[in-house]
Formats: sequence, C-alpha cells, structure tokens
Amino acid sequence: MTVGMGAVCTTLIAGVEAVRKGIAKPIGSLTQMGTIRLGKRTEGRSPLMRDFLPLAKLDDIVFAGWDIFGGNLYDAAKTAQVLDKDLLEQIRPFLESIEPMPAAFDQNYVKRLTGTHIKSGKNKRDLAEQIRKDIQAFKKKADRVVVIWTGSTEIFLKQTAVHQSLAAFEKGMDDDDPGIAPSQLYAWAALTEGIAFINGAPNLTVDFPAMNELSRKMNAPIAGRDFKTGQTFMKSVLAPAFKTRMLGVSGWFSDNILGNRDGEVLDEPQSFKTKEESKLGLLEMILQPDLHPDLYKDIYHKIRINYYPPRADNKESWDNIDIFGWLGYPMQLKVNFLCRDSILAAPLALDLCLFMDLAARTPSLRGLGIQEWLSFYFKAPDSAPGVYPEHDLFIQSMKLKNTLRHIMGEDLITHLGLDYYGE
Ligand SMILES: NC(=O)c1ccc[n+]([C@@H]2O[C@H](COP(=O)([O-])OP(=O)(O)OC[C@H]3O[C@@H](n4cnc5c(N)ncnc54)[C@H](O)[C@@H]3O)[C@@H](O)[C@H]2O)c1
Repeated sequence: MTVGMGAVCTTLIAGVEAVRKGIAKPIGSLTQMGTIRLGKRTEGRSPLMRDFLPLAKLDDIVFAGWDIFGGNLYDAAKTAQVLDKDLLEQIRPFLESIEPMPAAFDQNYVKRLTGTHIKSGKNKRDLAEQIRKDIQAFKKKADRVVVIWTGSTEIFLKQTAVHQSLAAFEKGMDDDDPGIAPSQLYAWAALTEGIAFINGAPNLTVDFPAMNELSRKMNAPIAGRDFKTGQTFMKSVLAPAFKTRMLGVSGWFSDNILGNRDGEVLDEPQSFKTKEESKLGLLEMILQPDLHPDLYKDIYHKIRINYYPPRADNKESWDNIDIFGWLGYPMQLKVNFLCRDSILAAPLALDLCLFMDLAARTPSLRGLGIQEWLSFYFKAPDSAPGVYPEHDLFIQSMKLKNTLRHIMGEDLITHLGLDYYGE
C-alpha cells in the first residue's frame, strides 16, 4: 500500500507491471537483478538474491494506496511525466484499474498542495482509525501487507513531548496536537495493524520513540528516511572515497534543478528545510571531522534545490567539490548528474517493500523496530538511540548482504581472506 500516488509511486507500479509483462527489465533493483556471494571466493556460489531468498514474487504483488487527488493511476502517471506514452499505453487497463483511496491530509503540513480527495474526521485519531479500516479491508485481499510513504515532503517538524511515548502520541491524536503530521497517522495505523512501514520522504514520520515503541510492541518493522537517489547517492560514494585516501575537503556546493510536483512542494521553504536537513547530515557522518580535524573541520556544505518546471522529473544537479591533498595543495572535482529522479527511486521502493516484508517474517529482525540493515536505501537512515547511522554506501551494502546471509543461516563474510594463502 502506497501513501501518495505521484511520480515515484506510479513509476514503481507501472514498472512492476511492465516487468511482469516482459516489456522492460527491472534495472536498478537489487532484489530482481542482484546476486549475493555465499561461502569462499573459491566456491563460485553467487546466486541471484531472488533465488536465494524467500521474497514475494512480482507476479504476486497487489497494489492499493491513498492520494489527495482522485483519478486513476494511468492519469496520475501521465501527470507525473516520467514514463513515455508508448509504455503507458501497453499497460493502460492495469493502471486504469487502480484508484487511490481518499487521503488523510492537512494543508498546514504541505502548503503548496490543495487536496480534493480527502477524509474528514473529528480529530487526528479519527482519521488514523479510518486509515486502519482501509488497511483492514485490504488485508482481506492480500496475505501480507507493507505500507510505504511515497507522499509529498511535509514541513520540517522537530520532536516534541508528544513523540516521546506511545501513550503521549495517542493522546496527542485525540487532542489534535500540531506535532502530529498526516504521515504519522498512516505510520501509526499501519504499525497498530502489525504492518511494516517505510518512509521514502524526509519528514518526521517513524523516527521517534513513540513509533519505535509501537513498532517493537507489534513486531512491525520500520525503516526510513528519504530514498537515497540522485545527488546524495553520489555523495555517499564520493565522500567515502576521499576519506579512505585521507584527502581533505574544504567545500561542497550542491545545486539542483527539478520541475516535478516534488520540486514544486520543495520550493516552499518549510518543506525545503525538511529536505535540506535530510541531505546535510551525511557528509559529517561519513567524514567524521572530530576524528580528522585537519581534513574535515571547516567544510562549507551548501545545498540548493530550485524548482524549474521545463525539466519535469529529469533533475539536473551540479556539485563543486573543493578538496586538498599532500601538503595541503587544493584540487577540484565537478559532478554534473543528469538523472531521472523517479527512475532512480522506483527500484529502491520495490526493494524496500520486498525486504521489509521479509523482515516482518524473520523472527530475529521483526522485533527490533528499526531495520538498520536497510540504511543502504536512505539519505538519512534511522539507527538505534546512541548509535550513529552508517552513510557510506559500501559499508551499507556489506551490512545489507550480511544480514541476508544471516537470515538464511549462511556464514557472514568478513573479507579477511587469510585462509586462501595457507601456511
Ligand atoms: N523522486 C525521487 O527520486 C525521490 C527521491 C527521494 C525522495 N523522494 C521523496 O518521495 C516523495 C514522493 O516524491 P514524488 O516525486 O513521487 O512526488 P509527487 O509529488 O509526484 O507525489 C507525491 C504524492 O503524494 C500525495 N500526497 C501528499 N500528501 C499526502 C497525504 N497526506 N496522503 C496521501 N497522499 C499525499 C500528493 O498528492 C502526490 O500525488 C517526496 O517526499 C520526495 O521528496 C523522491
């Protein structure tokens, strides 16, 4: 079940159907195309992940969701302007068969959008209970359910007293506490129904004590936040490269233009602030200036996102990176990424749904709450209290693969490799 049926969601759903029909390949998806090495390098065992793991099959997936705009997904996909007309025509009846359910929405939290297809209720608890009923009805059609937020970026919210315990949160829903955004109502409803919840956006949705408590109580895993796609994906590759060679960084200027609805929402300062926070933390976490003050103490890190309608979903980003090497001599690196935002995000959303469904069925994982092994997919991954999140893409990838080996009872791979060399 997807909350928000815009660009990412329609690209995900249309993509799954196109793959099922043999029209296109699931490029960018680890669960569909990735392999995993098992045992020693000499054993030659590297099955496809989907053969190794008991993942749900694409053919078995059924979609439903909510949006603040009505209409079917064929029209929503056309509005999103991600996929071309030829592809959409080939799967048109399927897309036309899916229509969003009315959403729990409040314009105070996404100021640029005016919802026309929304629930009404006497308070936030009432709206959340209505979402629960939608989930209960869908449960009758599907053996297992996962809920993913692919909705708009909400305004920046800080944790307050209402987020500190489940009891405070539930009272806060009764009292219409302003700290409770619509995305939190969906998360509460899903977790209360014992269902895993993924947050693909940067808003405060599951990463606070009350949701952690609910997640553990209900054995319903949580993961977030903000899909790691374009520029931040590149940052989490380049920053570890500089650090691993002990090269210094003095400045990192990141500029973006994008013209989709997400860009329009992010053009509003409070939603931009939410996005900015989720993008900013990564450099400091990867470079660890406290451990390496000579290299990273005074980095000037600046991020700009500009709404520019002519480009629609085809985002362009520029990074100017000022680095320095031996004896402090300066150098520069320029990165110009002409990406397609939702083409990068859709396979991440698919993998997250399949892996979270697997986590929900794995006794050693489902009671943990936060699924840190999925930090590979997020710009601002959540982690246990007191533990800093891991941002380096390659450490995240090793963590993910070792967790999959753990789930299947295979030996973990440490990359030590001494035993290949005998005496
Ligand atoms: N496209 C990417 O590559 C990418 C990458 C990382 C994160 N994200 C995040 O994912 C989210 C979705 O991105 P998108 O490009 O699909 O945006 P989009 O604007 O195309 O789609 C979001 C949809 O959510 C709906 N919505 C808003 N509030 C809702 C609510 N309370 N309930 C139900 N529906 C609601 C909107 O009507 C819209 O249709 C954004 O927060 C974005 O920042 C996107």
